[in-house]
Amino acid sequence: MAGFTYHNQDLYCDGVRLMDIAGEVGTPFYVYSEDTLRANYAAYQEGFAELDPLICYAYKANSNLSICRLLREMGGGADVLSGGELFRAIKAGVPSKKIVFNGNGKTKAELESALEADILMFNVDSKDELVFIDELAKEKGVRARIALRVNPDIDPGTHPYIATGLSESKFGVHILQAGEVYHLASELSHIDVIGIHTHIGSQITEAAPFVEALKKLTGLVLKLREMGINIGYINSGGGLGISYQEEDAPPTPAEMAKAFRPLVAETGCRLILEPGRSIVGNAGALIAEVLYIKETPRKNFLVVDAGMNDFIRPALYGGYHRIIPGIIRESNVVMFDIVGPICESGDYLGKERRLARPHQGDLMAVLDAGAYAYSMASNYNARPLLPEVLVKGEEYHLIRRRQTYQEMIAQEEGGE
Ligand code: LLP
Repeated sequence: MAGFTYHNQDLYCDGVRLMDIAGEVGTPFYVYSEDTLRANYAAYQEGFAELDPLICYAYKANSNLSICRLLREMGGGADVLSGGELFRAIKAGVPSKKIVFNGNGKTKAELESALEADILMFNVDSKDELVFIDELAKEKGVRARIALRVNPDIDPGTHPYIATGLSESKFGVHILQAGEVYHLASELSHIDVIGIHTHIGSQITEAAPFVEALKKLTGLVLKLREMGINIGYINSGGGLGISYQEEDAPPTPAEMAKAFRPLVAETGCRLILEPGRSIVGNAGALIAEVLYIKETPRKNFLVVDAGMNDFIRPALYGGYHRIIPGIIRESNVVMFDIVGPICESGDYLGKERRLARPHQGDLMAVLDAGAYAYSMASNYNARPLLPEVLVKGEEYHLIRRRQTYQEMIAQEEGGE
């Protein structure tokens, strides 16, 4: 079975024992199951097959080149949010006609490089950005294909930091102003209006908010058609949430597709999807080593060698991730907070977890750490960025080596 499972006492990723990887690359490290990645992508491809959507994998979730290449080989496009992500998509070999560019603060340099790359479209976030893209395209003597990112004012019931389609959110053009901005776009000399986009948030575990947003977009597409503006692409933004805990299991892509089908058909548009978390989330884990076990009158702590700089979701969103041992022990079950080595009390990976008391040197696996994990890591406390390992069947290889201390200071004066 793909993913993280025990054989005898030991935790494996697909066909490889995690202790064996740790022995070679050291801890902490990120590890990904190729079979799980492929299965997750295939679930969108197959679930949505009838609609034949363009699946633009959201690079912000995890933009390791090997993962990007693997998804590109499966036919995936890219949703990029920065010049750096665009650079990665091009490096990964994604055809320019499968790249969409998101974001509310695209810079001149970023817009220019995307115009030069001749990407499929810009998901334009504001009227100002629209006018600016037109000017830049004029200067370059090219035309820019655009969609407007429409803010549909929908509460997706997710963490407030990752709800993006409410009217008070900074993203997109409010749905009540969209007609006017589309009209302007249709009159600009170097803009081709080809699409409509929305993104209401991430880690949404039911189909209803997506369907509600798509309904609003469908209404707008029909209204625009009456205004003589013909939209060819409808982009419903990010993908489904994943099951971190015992939340209700999110619907499958096939179930989502079923709800989308009549609406997309009504518009006659090609569908674009931008899933991130549901492609890589459960394919990855963060593997740390137990350094110390500290039992105090109030609490027990497992101090591990990975911290909030390596993995910030628990500290930043109170995100829950299952944490399981690398080896099954028969010892007493004790309640632990699993904490990192960073100089902050918010530096924890999990709180109040019941675990068989491990030994120093045991591994701990933080599960569902494929998305928004490595991609949000930092060098805080001058800690080098971690290595990443991709497991394929019974083999594994390093898809990013550990950053060295020297690499960490190389861009600084005196650090060469
Ligand atoms: N498209 C757009 C325009 C987005 O802003 C996002 C995510 C996606 C697609 C991908 O959404 P997904 O399929 O992954 O739900 N760091 C946070 C998540 C931030 C998501 C931001 N936008 C976390 O760790 O939960």
